[in-house]
Amino acid sequence: MRNIIITIDGPAASGKEKISKYISKKWKLKHLDSGIIYRRLALVLLKDKVNIKNVNQIKKKLKEISNVSFQKSRRIRTQEISNLASKIAVYNFVRIFVNKLQYKFVENNKNNQGFVIDGRDIGSVVFKKANLKLYIEVKPEIRAKRRYKQLIDSGEKSIYRKILKEITLRDQKDKVRKHSPLIIPKGAYIIDNNGTFNKTVKQINKLIEII
Ligand code: DC
Repeated sequence: MRNIIITIDGPAASGKEKISKYISKKWKLKHLDSGIIYRRLALVLLKDKVNIKNVNQIKKKLKEISNVSFQKSRRIRTQEISNLASKIAVYNFVRIFVNKLQYKFVENNKNNQGFVIDGRDIGSVVFKKANLKLYIEVKPEIRAKRRYKQLIDSGEKSIYRKILKEITLRDQKDKVRKHSPLIIPKGAYIIDNNGTFNKTVKQINKLIEII
């Protein structure tokens, strides 16, 4: 396998990150989490007090940014950044900006085995010609329960009902926006991640084996 692209799309907290990391390790593919880019941009806008309702202000700010770190960090995992990222993701010019960074990343790492890229529009818009497209499906209640447990385990305070509400709201925003809404990409395999992680990766490995 060389230079293959596997896309993973799905709603918030559906396990895309864990699944992508697993695939990346098992199949020696470079992982790119496109959500990080939206979150990094949201953090810059927040820090620089840019009014996200003012399109011209955001455009001006983006002109000042030539690159964005793809590193995960606790600072970009807060609820405030999640909501902000979802809000700026509705703007097509923001999406074009993010997509360019993704193409650059793939171009710069061409000598790699290939890539596993996750997000909301990767198989439907960004890498339409991917070798394998996956769409992760999990009920909102199960997603909320898993996120709740994650937060409690890491010592943070959390309320299940609040998490469920936030997840449902973010789903709504991601699915109804005009540009690149979250959809099941054409040709994608639907992966049921309601059960155990083992069950999930079994479905996926079977598909990767036959690429
Ligand atoms: O996957 P995530 O929760 O880190 O993504 C944060 C937000 O970024 C998400 O609510 C919507 C947006 N996003 C997007 O619109 N398209 C992507 N490919 C990835 C993320």
